[in-house]
Amino acid sequence: MRSACLSLLLATACWALPPFRQSGFMDFMMEDEAGSGDRVSAPVVPDVVERGPVCPFRCQCHLRVTQCSDLGLKEIPSQIPPETTLLDLQNNKITEIKENDFKNLKGLHALILVNNLLSVIHPKAFSGLSKLQRLYLSKNLLKEVPANMPKSLQELRIHENAITKIKKSSFQGMTNVIVMELGSNPLKGNSIEFGAFTDLARVSYIRIADTNITEIPKGLPSSLSELHLDSNKISKVMADSLKGMKNLAKLGLGYNEISMVENGTLANVPHMRELHLDNNALTAVPPGLPEHKYIQVVYLHANKIAAIGTEDFCPPTFNYKKAMYSGISLFSNPVPYWEVQPITFRCVFDRSAIQLGNYRKK
Ligand SMILES: *[C@@H]1O[C@H](CO)[C@@H](O)[C@H](O)[C@H]1NC(C)=O
Ligand SMILES: *[C@@H]1O[C@H](CO)[C@@H](O)[C@H](O)[C@H]1NC(C)=O
Repeated sequence: MRSACLSLLLATACWALPPFRQSGFMDFMMEDEAGSGDRVSAPVVPDVVERGPVCPFRCQCHLRVTQCSDLGLKEIPSQIPPETTLLDLQNNKITEIKENDFKNLKGLHALILVNNLLSVIHPKAFSGLSKLQRLYLSKNLLKEVPANMPKSLQELRIHENAITKIKKSSFQGMTNVIVMELGSNPLKGNSIEFGAFTDLARVSYIRIADTNITEIPKGLPSSLSELHLDSNKISKVMADSLKGMKNLAKLGLGYNEISMVENGTLANVPHMRELHLDNNALTAVPPGLPEHKYIQVVYLHANKIAAIGTEDFCPPTFNYKKAMYSGISLFSNPVPYWEVQPITFRCVFDRSAIQLGNYRKK
């Protein structure tokens, strides 16, 4: 798995990067570099004299990248070169995006507004950006998802804002989105409306961690391969909430309050490889693991599991499981580990894959 992170631009948690090609912004620059070879070697002086180099004061404009980060800007600068494909405005003090701030940037691919003081975005601010693929709005003060985001968007990062509700209309028609990051917003109860994600027919990665949502959002698209819902207030996993999710490979539910995983849940996600249920309130191993063909990693540490049965992980006959377990964690549970019978893990060939460990009462 690729471990490249966008840490150059974002101090984001990046365990389990989306399967989406995350090679980052160098792409834009490389493309531009290749395409601009002619221009660089041509005599440029007369051109510059005629048109004048356009670049906002104190920003740097180079190869269609306009770099205006860390300048203490209070508003979107004017005179952004119209050929800009990447506009970096992160780490400023911008409070508002007005209707015409990005009006001339028809070729913009990526817009980075991370870590500003944005609370107002004009509903038409993004309407001309028909090529925009990446929109990074994390670490701002937005109370809602911006209206009328471009349909071309592939990646939306809007974590650490003040969003209290995800409406059914929030992502309407956004069929190109692949990655969506919505964590660390004051979402609670069921403040995600049913069907909010339905239009995202290509989405493969959704993360909604560190909120107060109490259930798995309903109506998630079947294209999803990673769903990260760690550090929320989810108390139950109902089979229905994962119905039809035939592509789901990773499900993160660590640090919730889950006491129950309904029978049939795992059968609804036949291609699951990795399930994180650590730091919850489970009293038993979730049902359905022996019948599951592909699951490899199951984190169950730091729960309230007091007993482990010999049929909890492995099928009665070999050659049933198509993928081998590569990680099972059970430490920090009240089960006395010397009482777990070795036969429980008869289908696990690499014994180092199992972490039973010690449980210490505090
Ligand atoms: C979740 O709820 C708690 C208690 O009401 C609150 O202190 C906390 O800020 C909330 N978290 C978020 C991300 O809104
Ligand atoms: C789950 O399903 C199994 C097999 O179908 C059944 O034996 C068990 O009682 C069920 N458990 C619950 C909690 O419904």
